[in-house]
Amino acid sequence: MAKFNSQAEAEAAGVYISKVKSFVKREGRLTKAQGRALEEFWPTKGIEYQNEPLDLAAVFGRDAPVVVEIGFGMGKSLVTMAHEAPELNFIGIEVHRPGVGACLADAGELGVENLRVMEHDAVEVLKNMIPDASLHRLQLFFPDPWHKKRHHKRRIVQAEFAELVRTKLAVGGTFHMATDWEPYAEHMAEVMNAAEGYINTAAEGDYVPRPDYRPTTKFEVRGQKLGHGVWDLIYERTA
Ligand SMILES: C[S@@+](CC[C@H](N)C(=O)[O-])C[C@H]1O[C@@H](n2cnc3c(N)ncnc32)[C@H](O)[C@@H]1O
Repeated sequence: MAKFNSQAEAEAAGVYISKVKSFVKREGRLTKAQGRALEEFWPTKGIEYQNEPLDLAAVFGRDAPVVVEIGFGMGKSLVTMAHEAPELNFIGIEVHRPGVGACLADAGELGVENLRVMEHDAVEVLKNMIPDASLHRLQLFFPDPWHKKRHHKRRIVQAEFAELVRTKLAVGGTFHMATDWEPYAEHMAEVMNAAEGYINTAAEGDYVPRPDYRPTTKFEVRGQKLGHGVWDLIYERTA
């Protein structure tokens, strides 16, 4: 990629460089199975980062509502969701390569056809590759909570991000977040309640019960046994 001397220069050239990243890239080693899955399935299920909008129907070979998930980790719940909702098209975005490999291994094993994956910063993908008003749902499950106050600026949910997500959702589309860290849930609600062009779909208060389409993760079930809470928030794009 071309090098830019400043954020302004990059933006002028149409390239978005987020100032603060929501992740620190870990150099995890690939297991043999993950490496094999990347080799076998990336050519058909992987999407390379590019600097222009995707033709979503061409990517999937059909027109269907598109769900994007940011930060799918090892991809277990994303693969289950895609398997259980064959009428939807799913794109998972994750920066952690072993996670991408693990997700492809599971998707390949189950023969899931309606899932594509990307290995890149989801903020850049949203900004540059996802067409405006094209998404049925955007999912952000258990994003890094960045517990320390001095790291709060790394939390992906911020006003600017809420606006970016809004422009990518179709009107009537939803932004679904879940977290097990209560202060982050409160932060999400604060940012989203202040964001224009959304309504909170909760019947009461800020949180909704976990919808059936979101499977629980092993990590989540273990946390619940220990008495930890989980907060789901779903906002709908209205304008
Ligand atoms: C705490 S983990 C949760 C993983 C998974 N959603 C789960 O519930 O098990 C957060 C994940 O988000 C990924 N991540 C953070 N920021 C990201 C970004 N900007 N683009 C893509 N992935 C990101 C991290 O690599 C990490 O795997």
